[in-house]
Amino acid sequence: MELSDPTQLLADARTALDAAVDTAALADAKARFLGRDGLVTERLKLLGKVPAEQRSAVGKTLNALKQSIEALVASREAALRQQQLDARLAQEAIDVTLPGRGSGKGGLHPVTLTIERIETIFRSIGFDVADGPEIEEDFFNFTALNTPADHPARSMHDTFYVEGQDAEGRGLLLRTHTSPMQIRYARQQTPPIKVIAPGKTYRVDSDATHSPMFHQFEGMWIDEGISFADLKSVYTEFLRRFFETDQLDVRFRPSYFPFTEPSAEIDMRFAEGPLAGRWLEVSGSGQVHPQVVRNLGLDPERYIGFAFGSGIERLAMLRYDVGDLRLFYENDLRFLQQFNP
Ligand code: PHE
Repeated sequence: MELSDPTQLLADARTALDAAVDTAALADAKARFLGRDGLVTERLKLLGKVPAEQRSAVGKTLNALKQSIEALVASREAALRQQQLDARLAQEAIDVTLPGRGSGKGGLHPVTLTIERIETIFRSIGFDVADGPEIEEDFFNFTALNTPADHPARSMHDTFYVEGQDAEGRGLLLRTHTSPMQIRYARQQTPPIKVIAPGKTYRVDSDATHSPMFHQFEGMWIDEGISFADLKSVYTEFLRRFFETDQLDVRFRPSYFPFTEPSAEIDMRFAEGPLAGRWLEVSGSGQVHPQVVRNLGLDPERYIGFAFGSGIERLAMLRYDVGDLRLFYENDLRFLQQFNP
């Protein structure tokens, strides 16, 4: 038998094993030497034909060769496994030094910011803040505010009526103003009462300065011995704090509301800036009508009330110099992000 050259065989095996690039190729290469018909196995099978005096030496050599090749296989196997692991690690690597993607920080809507600002100012001058339903009873929105069913002033508000009735069979609507809060709040309190009630209001109306949904805040102050001068000073103080300037004038222009008498529109005028010199209407107001004071459960001979209802978007537009009311409702992030730098 050609027993020559176990060294060559070992060298061939090493070359073949090293050339194996994956475990399948390695198994093939291993089989070529150590498999059932492998080069080493074949020689072992022929051992019986080796002359007896050489057999032991040849056997030893072949076994040593076999063990060497097995060791090579094992180390190649380990190397391949390590390579695979390295490749996977490289592929799945996470660069912990990359900056994070951020979590899209949210911000408050300009109308919400404006409401918060209004609340802060009024709280600081002793007003409570109250909250009421947007689906309102016809009774609170109109009747209790001195506006019975056939009253012509109802047509001042283009009302969204809601199907159904309340528990007492009274009609429902989307409140057209925050004034029903005068009734709801005063009925639960005892004077002196100082409150504002901001929230959503609804009217059938839509253009650059009107939206079917908009925000108002109602203000009410009921006490003994107060006068229009008190209302004027409170509201003027509010506007000066809201716009952060003393350079503005306020005037009360006679008007009409069924639930106040006398009634006035509150106009303001900046003394400086791009809007300087123009009177701008910001609120309705008035002394609470004696009939409404009675509806609140109070004696109009004893208590005087003042109320105002102001447009929140109007104030926000003036403060932030926004030309079109509809921008507040389009949810365009480019617009909204400017309020949350
Ligand atoms: N509710 C009135 C409106 O929406 C405003 C107002 C409130 C007027 C309180 C007087 C007193 O137009």
